[in-house]
Amino acid sequence: MKHTSSTQDVPAAAMMPRHIAIIMDGNGRWATRRFLPRVAGHAKGVEMVRSVVEACALRGVEYLTLFAFSSENWRRPADEVSVLMRLFMTALEREVTKMHANSIRLKVVGDLSRFDSKLQEMIANAERRTAHNTRLTVTICANYGGRWDIVQAVEKLVAASPGVGKFTEDQLALHLSMAYAPEPDLFIRTGGEERISNFLLWQLAYTEMYFTDTYWPDFDDAALDAAIGSYQQRERRFGRTSEQLIEPKKAS
Ligand code: IPE
Ligand code: IPE
Ligand code: MG
Repeated sequence: MKHTSSTQDVPAAAMMPRHIAIIMDGNGRWATRRFLPRVAGHAKGVEMVRSVVEACALRGVEYLTLFAFSSENWRRPADEVSVLMRLFMTALEREVTKMHANSIRLKVVGDLSRFDSKLQEMIANAERRTAHNTRLTVTICANYGGRWDIVQAVEKLVAASPGVGKFTEDQLALHLSMAYAPEPDLFIRTGGEERISNFLLWQLAYTEMYFTDTYWPDFDDAALDAAIGSYQQRERRFGRTSEQLIEPKKAS
C-alpha cells in the first residue's frame, strides 16, 4: 500500500483524521503560572501523553505523532534536558507494557545517535516488542528536526541509487523517517505559538493546521475533540476547486 499520497486523495468529509500530529508545547508556562518549576510541567505533560494516546485509540485514529524533543531543544539548560531524558526513560519503562496490551505500536523517530546507549536500547526493545500491533501507531519524535529528516532521506536515496541524477517526490518520501505512515491529516500545536518549529516539514504540505492557546498539560479529551471537530468542518481541496469535490471521481 502506498503511503505517501495523502495529498492526492480527498478523504470523505467529516471523517476521523487517520493521522494526527501534535507539537506538545506550553509545559514550562503551565508550571510557571502555578509557581512550580518548569520540570513539573513536563511531568504533567507526560500524563497528558498517556491520556491523548488512549483517547486516539478509542476514537479510531490510526496514527498519532508527538513532538517530544526537537533537535533545537539541546539549547536548553543542561538540567532541564537531563530531566526530559529521565522522564522519557521512565515513561518508556512504565507505559510500553500497557501499550502492548492495547495493541499499540510504538515508533521513535529522530537522530537517536545522540541519546545515551541505555535509552537507545530501551527504544529499540519497545519498538521490537510492539512492532506487530495494529490498532494505533504512536510515533514519538525525539531529537527530531524536519530539515534533518529531509537531509537523511536524500542521503539514503542517493546511496541507494548511485549515479542517478533525477528523482521523484515519491522516491524521496520513501526514505523519510515516517515513510510507514500516511501524511498527517490534522496538525495540532498547543501553547499559543503559531509556528512549525522544524517539525514534519515535508509531510505537513497539505495537513490541516490547528493552533490552540491551551497549554499541553491542560489538553484534555474535550480539547482534543474540539481540534477534531474543527478538522471535520474543513474542506480539503488539494489544489482542486470546491465544485470538483462534489464529484471527486471525475475531478481527479
Ligand atoms: C514543550 O513545552 C515541551 C518541550 C519542548 C520538551 P515547553 O517546555 O516548550 O514549554 P514552554 O513553551 O516553555 O511553555
Ligand atoms: C517545539 O517546542 C518542540 C517540542 C514541543 C518538542 P519549542 O518550545 O521548543 O518551540 P519554540 O522554541 O517555541 O519554537
Ligand atoms: Mg515551548
